[in-house]
Amino acid sequence: MDRIVIRGGLPLAGTIPIAGAKNAALPLMAASLLTDEPLVLANLPDLADIRTMADLLAQHGVAVTPRASGEGLPPHVLELSARRITSTTAPYDLVRRMRASFLVLGPLLARCGEARVSLPGGDEIGVRPVDLHIKGLQRLGAEVELSGGYIEARAPQGLRGAEIAFPSVSVGATEHMLMAAALADGETLLVNAAREPEITDLATCLVAMGAQIDGIGTDRLTVRGVGRLHGARHTVISDRIETGTYVMAVAAAGGEVQLGGARLDHIEAVARVLENADIRMHETDGGLLVRRSTGRIDGVDVMTEPYPGFPTDLQAQVMALMTIADGAAMITETIFENRFMHVPELMRLGANINVQGPSALVRGVKRLTGAPVMATDLRASVSLVIAGLIAEGETLISGVHHLDRGYERLEEKLAACGARIERVRGGA
Ligand code: UD1
Repeated sequence: MDRIVIRGGLPLAGTIPIAGAKNAALPLMAASLLTDEPLVLANLPDLADIRTMADLLAQHGVAVTPRASGEGLPPHVLELSARRITSTTAPYDLVRRMRASFLVLGPLLARCGEARVSLPGGDEIGVRPVDLHIKGLQRLGAEVELSGGYIEARAPQGLRGAEIAFPSVSVGATEHMLMAAALADGETLLVNAAREPEITDLATCLVAMGAQIDGIGTDRLTVRGVGRLHGARHTVISDRIETGTYVMAVAAAGGEVQLGGARLDHIEAVARVLENADIRMHETDGGLLVRRSTGRIDGVDVMTEPYPGFPTDLQAQVMALMTIADGAAMITETIFENRFMHVPELMRLGANINVQGPSALVRGVKRLTGAPVMATDLRASVSLVIAGLIAEGETLISGVHHLDRGYERLEEKLAACGARIERVRGGA
């Protein structure tokens, strides 16, 4: 297993290119199942999760072809052609590896009238049920059964438009219903829909494929089903979570970094949290410039919320930043029930954190000191990288395969800005 070694204490200076958004790319790839014409997706990140989704689509019969990038090069552009679907079953080993695989259920059902998709099971950050996805598909007329750990769904006469009022906000369920409703007969109204930028990106691509969707960007989406969708070419938005992660890294380590292709309007909640600290962020022609001079960071309370609130996917990173703030910060996680796995690891580096239920009280300390730590999930692991950048001495992070699911060339991007960070291949 690879490990990452960081010797902290240096400010960051330079440019970091922000990749396409993983969480936008995955549902967009699933949307290729909705049409027998090619869907060309550009600006895909080069990540393990993207390869997992490509493998899953391939076993459904989708021809996955890198375009404008040769053999062995990062799959920044992929052509996905689901001319003929050869299997409507998504097996356990692929769905278990990545929960977003579950999103193939609705498109397969809408296109083929049946689908059999493994239930994903829980993961490191919680139980993560899929009841809202299932209930939504049932509202669209699907018959759904659980058998042998698989969801078996049928809609022999096709799906029918309906009103779906989500009792709580779900990114995945909103994406799932958008895709299924696009090919349903009649009108679907999604109420209390999630409005993350990734959903807007999916809706925009579906419209380019011929879907009829109103209310894009709001929590009320109307989809008028069409008989068929056609191919399209779509460029994935830049990754706001990768952007926010590097903003936190600069805020923690100090320095000045240009985040290429990043968008400030997608991370306004992050900007609000940092505005009291001595951190400057402004849009430039090429992206977003982030600067922290010598001033200390003030402790700021943070609560995670659905977009446009503060993202749960940046909670661990902001906590790493707050470990060295002046004063205390109360960080409250409202989206997932088990998302403080990074706390004991940050404490190994000297952080002072007290968890009470969904809240963590972080009392700022003067300094962190390097230690061996263990990455437990994707965002937890990158919070340890941020902590390692500010810790005195050496931080050795194990379990970095979690990082590789969501951060493209992380150690290269940070090293190019002067961080002393390297990957040690193999080992225990
Ligand atoms: C997506 C993101 C993930 C992010 C999360 C919240 C992708 C691939 N992943 O995950 O990185 O952390 O949004 O911003 O885009 N829930 C239910 N029943 C359901 C579905 C969800 O109870 O059927 C609950 C979840 O357990 C969680 C909350 O709703 O507590 C929000 O989850 P959801 O928005 O669905 O997250 P994902 O789409 O899985």
